[in-house]
Amino acid sequence: MIQLQNRRILVGISGGIAAYKTPQLVRLLRQAGADVIVVMTANAARFVTATTLQAVSGRPVRNDLWDPAAEAQMGHIELARWAELVLIAPATADRLARIAGGLADDLLGAVCLATRAPIAVAPAMNQVMWEAAPTRRNLATLVADGIAVIGPESGDQACGEVGPGRMTEPESLLEAVVGLFEVPPGLSELRAVTTPPGGSLSGRHVVITAGPTREAIDPVRYISNHSSGKQGYAIAAAAIAAGARVTLISGPVSEPVPAGAALIPVESARDMHAACLEAAGDCDLFIAVAAVADYRPKTAADRKIKKSDAGDVGLHLDLVENPDIVASVAALPRRPIVVGFAAETHDAMKHARAKLTRKGLDAIIVNDVSRTDIGFGSDSNAVTLIWAEGELTLEKQSKASLASEIIDRLAALFVRQLAHTNPENVAH
Ligand code: C5P
Repeated sequence: MIQLQNRRILVGISGGIAAYKTPQLVRLLRQAGADVIVVMTANAARFVTATTLQAVSGRPVRNDLWDPAAEAQMGHIELARWAELVLIAPATADRLARIAGGLADDLLGAVCLATRAPIAVAPAMNQVMWEAAPTRRNLATLVADGIAVIGPESGDQACGEVGPGRMTEPESLLEAVVGLFEVPPGLSELRAVTTPPGGSLSGRHVVITAGPTREAIDPVRYISNHSSGKQGYAIAAAAIAAGARVTLISGPVSEPVPAGAALIPVESARDMHAACLEAAGDCDLFIAVAAVADYRPKTAADRKIKKSDAGDVGLHLDLVENPDIVASVAALPRRPIVVGFAAETHDAMKHARAKLTRKGLDAIIVNDVSRTDIGFGSDSNAVTLIWAEGELTLEKQSKASLASEIIDRLAALFVRQLAHTNPENVAH
């Protein structure tokens, strides 16, 4: 099966012993239908020859930023534009540092900086180098920049040690590359869009609901829940950091309001519903994080209920259903991108997907609340982001860093639609 038919893949090779496996990788990519251009660093040429790579790729190999003849044929910017994927295999510790630092003093560095295509790296190095603090920091930067890291594998190393740092085998790299091209629309564009100068949500109006609601029983009592508002407030702060104008519609919480957010304080689900429908009018992205009470007392007593009011039969409260706020916003004729949250204790993915459809959402963020180490009241959380064509798990981290990741992913996922929601909201 030809899985990479006409895909334009730029294979970068840096100077590690695993470079001897790259000709085999290039052969496999070609057999899968891809068009491959190889860019080698000066040190890669110590391990594998340009002649071999030219033979297997069927194209001239590029290795010099300063080669006038090659630059005249296809300059480094054209190479960067040509690529649909830049795959660096092997990626040495030095190369990871260079990409993380944005260095462009050789051809491969310049291409990485100049491309809008996704970049994937297959690290290969001695296990101690792999575990060294600078490499860890560089990897974290690469991942945050949306670069895919494939491997490394563990096992015998060329240096005689045993441990993590072996380059992923060419056959598995081919599978990973096919997978990268199958990433659903949206995420594959993570790097394919230019972030506006003010941030990924620059000029956008984001409305966020947060905290619990309080459903009055009488003037002094209410039904509510344990929502702390932490996650919703963190998302509001992250959206502001991404350049958005943020309206935060919040039930009663003790979190400080993020600087720059317009707070609309509410108490009951019905208050929140009304405030949301009003704010949704000129909103681009609506994120419902609030833990809205599903039911409220049918009538709230206007005077404090006395123990003696109950009599022998005990006190009975009639409950009626509250409006579903996020579903109402999703049903608006000129709707924003609508994202909900789902706290689930079992069959989380199945229930969340059903909720996505039932409420007419564009995406849903699922919390497994059966885990005691994350969620309600805690400072950390782990979630899965689900949308029509895919899902993505965001690992356990602080609610603040998770919030930034959620905002980045949503901005990337809905970049096209966000460009068309409310054009009048875009800053000029
Ligand atoms: O149905 P469930 O309460 O699990 O749905 C959770 C999602 O729906 C959250 O995004 C929550 O903010 C939103 N929701 C709402 N209005 C309700 C109930 C839930 O906006 N009445």
